Amino acid sequence: MKKSKAIYPGTFDPITLGHLDIIKRAAKIFHYVTIAIVASSNKSLLFTLDERINLVRKVTKHLYNVKVEIFNSLTTDFAKKQKANILIRGLRAVTDFEYEMKLTYMNQCLAPTIESIFFMTSKELSFISSSLVKEVAYYGGDVSNLLPVSVNQALVTKMKNQL
Ligand code: COA
Repeated sequence: MKKSKAIYPGTFDPITLGHLDIIKRAAKIFHYVTIAIVASSNKSLLFTLDERINLVRKVTKHLYNVKVEIFNSLTTDFAKKQKANILIRGLRAVTDFEYEMKLTYMNQCLAPTIESIFFMTSKELSFISSSLVKEVAYYGGDVSNLLPVSVNQALVTKMKNQL
C-alpha cells in the first residue's frame, strides 16, 4: 500500500498548542507529515524564519514521522515537490470556514489531485491565534497555557528585547 504523505502549511509565528494539537493528531493518521513553514508572508512577522523553524523543530522532535521544511512558493507546488497529495488545515470556528473554502477551491483549481483534509481544533484551543497570543504577550499578559514551554520562553524574551 502507498504510504500517505501530508503537508501542514502555515507561517507558525509562533507555533501554538493549537497547531501542535493538529500536528499530533495528523501524525497518528498519516504515515508522514511535513510541516511546511512559509518563508515570507504579507503578515508582519515577529520571529525570523530561523527562529520559527527552530521552535517548530524543538516542539515536534518527539514525533518520529513529522519533519519540518521551508517553502516560498505556492503550497500546491511545494506539495507536489514533496510528493504529498494531502493538505492539512485546522478549523477553529465558523469564521475559519469561509476563508478555508476559498483556499481549498483555489488549491483544487491549481492541483486537482491534492486533497485538503480538515481537523477541528480541540475545543479548549479553538480561540487561539498566533497574533492574539503575540498581542497579549506584548502587553505583559500570561499566555503560557496556550504555548509549548520553549515557545513561551522565546516569546517572553522577544518581547523584553523589543522594549
Ligand atoms: N490553532 C491555533 N491557531 C491556528 C490554528 C490552530 N489549529 N489554525 C490556524 N491558526 C492561526 C494561525 O496561527 C494564524 O494566526 P495569525 O493570523 O494570527 O498568524 C491564523 O490562524 C491563520 O492561519 P493560517 O490560515 O494557517 O494562515 P497562515 O498565515 O499561518 O498560513 C498559508 C497561510 C501559508 C497556508 C497560505 O498563505 C499559503 O498557502 N501560502 C502560500 C502561497 C499560496 O499557495 N497561496 C495561494 C493559496 S490558495
